[in-house]
This record gives sequence, structure tokens and C-alpha cells, in this order.
Amino acid sequence: MTDKYAVIGNPIAHSKSPQIHKMFAEQTGQDISYEAILVASGPDDFTAEIIGLRKDGYKGCNVTVPFKQHAFQLGIIGLTISLSEDVTHAMAANTLKFLNGGIQLENTDGTGLVRDLTENLGVDLRGKRLLLVGAGGAARGVILPLRRTGANVIITNRTADKALALAKRFIVSGCSYEELVSKKFDIVINATSSGLSDEMPDIPESIFAPSSLAYDMMYGRETPFMKFAREHGAAVVSDGLGMLVEQAAESFFIWRGVRPETAPVIAALRKQQ
Ligand code: ATR
Repeated sequence: MTDKYAVIGNPIAHSKSPQIHKMFAEQTGQDISYEAILVASGPDDFTAEIIGLRKDGYKGCNVTVPFKQHAFQLGIIGLTISLSEDVTHAMAANTLKFLNGGIQLENTDGTGLVRDLTENLGVDLRGKRLLLVGAGGAARGVILPLRRTGANVIITNRTADKALALAKRFIVSGCSYEELVSKKFDIVINATSSGLSDEMPDIPESIFAPSSLAYDMMYGRETPFMKFAREHGAAVVSDGLGMLVEQAAESFFIWRGVRPETAPVIAALRKQQ
């Protein structure tokens, strides 16, 4: 029998996840269906949807904007919830696996980012100076996995206090944009939502070390941050499409115990851009 999965979000029409999981299923011979479900943005609507999916026999789901934080709070509805370390730290989940007695919560965003950096882009992160720009949900989800790689992580944010608070919580360094003036980084990751409004974090031009990598967690088009990085010395500039596919692959692995090949899926999606 076909096992059912879904992605839940609002908005959701733009989601590439159904296409990605369909490619994974074809490639691995797994008998699954995967659909996108739009849910009204309240926490109660989200919880009701999760309860409904379990009742309808779904095996799991992905959770995207704005529900990743709501998923973290599912424990309050009385189900047995197991939280991975990444979920506990990020206080957000993007992958739910429905078990007989409860729900397993995972967050695969950070693993997806680290895999894209290390395996697809070939970066050895150990000891590297890594700047993470942004202190919202997207940043929070990736700090612990980045720290685990042995990279020397510094968080910065337009509202510096938020960067300092996150840095303290995750035991890494934090600073304001102004304090970046005298610093250079091997890897600069844009985890802000500035690209959505075609804006650019106001970081100094001088931050890119020779042979540095600039990475935007957004995908779909070149963001102002990517253009800025290209113009100011970054040797390699990448969008977040690889991260998207890698986090999906990690979810697929959690659900099915099978690890799909990501390279052909990334290539297929690139062709559509
Ligand atoms: P997300 O879940 O995408 O991280 P969020 O939690 O709303 O969204 O956080 C948005 C992040 O992008 C914040 O770090 C925000 O900076 P502030 O904390 O100063 O608001 C950052 N951001 C959004 N637009 C930005 C811009 N134009 N320049 C710099 N940072 C921006």
C-alpha cells in the first residue's frame, strides 16, 4: 500500500517538496505519495491538521513557514513527542514522523545546509571562519549543526542584540554589523529574509577572504546578497537550492530508512530555473 506524506505550510503553492520527493521515490523504488497542503496560519489550525493527517493514516509530513515553531509545541496536545537535539536547540521542527504512540520531531535544515556545503560544494568547514548573517528562525535552525562541524561560527544581525542573544545560547560568538569592518571570513551565509524583498543586509564589503564562499539560503534567483558577494571578492557564490534538496533527502531517510541520490535531483531543479 502507498504510504502517504505531505508538506504543510502557508503559502505552499510554490513548494518544490512534492516534486523532490516524487523524484526520490522514483529513484529508490519507494511506494509513497507526497502532496502540498495549505493550512490557515493559526496554531490551532496547524494542530488540527496534524491530528487529521495521523487519523487519515499519513506516515509523516514536512512543516514549513510559518509552522516550524508551532510543530515544536505539539507536545502540549498530549501526544507522546520525541524531539531530536536539533529540534530542541532550534525550537522548531521541519520533519514529523508519525509513530503508533506519538510523533518523532526532527529538524533537517541544518543537516541539509552542512551536507550542501561539505558534499556538494566540497568545503571542509573545520577551523574555518564562518559568518552567519541573521538571527531569525532560519538562522536558529542551522547554528548547532554548523558548530558541530568544527567551524568557528560568528553570528551577526541587523538588530545586533538578537545576534548576541543567539550566540550566547549556542555558545558561539556574536557581533554587530559595525564590528565586522576589520574581519574577514572563509564562509559567509545569508540566513536573513532580506532577499524576499530584494534587499541586502548592510554588511561591509571587506568581509570576504580570498577563496571565500558566499551562500544564500534562499533559492530561485540571484539575490542582492549573492550579487554583492560576487562583486566584492567571494570566490564561490551559491544559492540554497542544494540545501533544499539535502534537507528533503534527510527527511526521506528519516521516514524510509533509504538515502536518495541528491545530485540528479539538484540538477533537474537547476534546469527549471
Ligand atoms: P526567518 O524565519 O526567515 O529567519 P524571521 O524570523 O522573521 O524570518 O527573521 C528574519 C531575519 O532576517 C532577521 O534576522 C532580520 O533581521 P532583524 O532581526 O534585524 O529584523 C533579517 N532581515 C530581514 N530583512 C533584512 C534586511 N533588509 N537587512 C538585514 N536583515 C534583514
